[in-house]
Amino acid sequence: MRKVYRGRDVEVSFDLDICIHVGECLRGDRQVFKLDRRPWVLPDAGEAEVIAQVVERCPSGALQYRRLDGGDQEKFAEITTITPMRDGPLLVTGRVEVRHDDGTVETLPRATLCRCGLSEHKPFCDNQHLVTRFRAPGVPFKIHLSEVRLRPDRPISKTEDPRRFD
Ligand code: SF4
Ligand code: FES
Repeated sequence: MRKVYRGRDVEVSFDLDICIHVGECLRGDRQVFKLDRRPWVLPDAGEAEVIAQVVERCPSGALQYRRLDGGDQEKFAEITTITPMRDGPLLVTGRVEVRHDDGTVETLPRATLCRCGLSEHKPFCDNQHLVTRFRAPGVPFKIHLSEVRLRPDRPISKTEDPRRFD
């Protein structure tokens, strides 16, 4: 379920169900993205341009933004690219259309799709590959240790994640 955080210059939205806890958000702007505060995203605590850059580094597409100040919106990559991440999901960039169970269609510019076959939230990765120690070649995943991931091999679970209460 995507939640929307509206600011003056930029609106940020977040879908916890597809977050894979690599922590780009929490290290990208600590005033805007803060786990121990509700709401955890405060778009007015930072600059729209910087927020847009941080959001575009979120590999899963969990974070999205919409500029309200006339600034550039995120552009879909012209060519769709699928990159296997080492021991983990397929990273897709391009125009990814997702049909939800209720029939709604969401278009994402980035997504991380399950490659191990064990995700309970297919087609998205839900980090089950960590539980089963899935091994497969690919480009190394840039994982930043943060409050959502104190160890590289173990993110916090959705039930532990305080962002579910926003
Ligand atoms: S996938 Fe990473 S950058 Fe995106 S919301 Fe989750 S922790 Fe933040
Ligand atoms: S690749 Fe992450 S759950 Fe399958």
